[in-house]
Amino acid sequence: MKNNIFLIGFMGTGKSTVADVLYRKYGMRVLDMDNAIEEKEGMSISEIFKIHGEEYFRNLETSLIMSLEDKDNIVVSCGGGTALRKENVDAMKKYGRVILLDATPETIFERVRHSNNRPLLEGNKNVEFIRDLLSQRIDRYKAAADEIIKVDDKNAEDVCKEIMKA
Ligand code: S3P
Repeated sequence: MKNNIFLIGFMGTGKSTVADVLYRKYGMRVLDMDNAIEEKEGMSISEIFKIHGEEYFRNLETSLIMSLEDKDNIVVSCGGGTALRKENVDAMKKYGRVILLDATPETIFERVRHSNNRPLLEGNKNVEFIRDLLSQRIDRYKAAADEIIKVDDKNAEDVCKEIMKA
């Protein structure tokens, strides 16, 4: 059994921030999927969506997950859609533990309202849209998760402590 940790959850639940704290405070090795994909493609997520489309991006996510087969002891900060494909989830479960960061639509809205690199939220930055998309996804997120951590009202340090305990 490998000891990788996969952080999953909706946009704005703090996956990248938490992974960053796990790196800085606990010295864990981190892979941020969105960053890795942007680097590989030489363009932003928004540009990838605009130029190649969402399906192309989803295939890049799957290739990246599959390429982690040989890795151990890393924290993977997934994109918000990574845990929606069954093949991705099957691979994540084989390669480590899956931790869901769970937040209310209101918390998510507060955290994403000023960001501009999330194509699915462009023109949709409101609580109703987030609630609707989250409700379409939450069952799949929960089914993928080995652990669920509620992140409302917690800072990244608190979430990291819970992850270390888990
Ligand atoms: C997506 C979430 C984003 C990014 C892309 C699609 C999604 O990642 O992968 O914009 O489908 O939820 P973050 O969750 O890191 O924002």
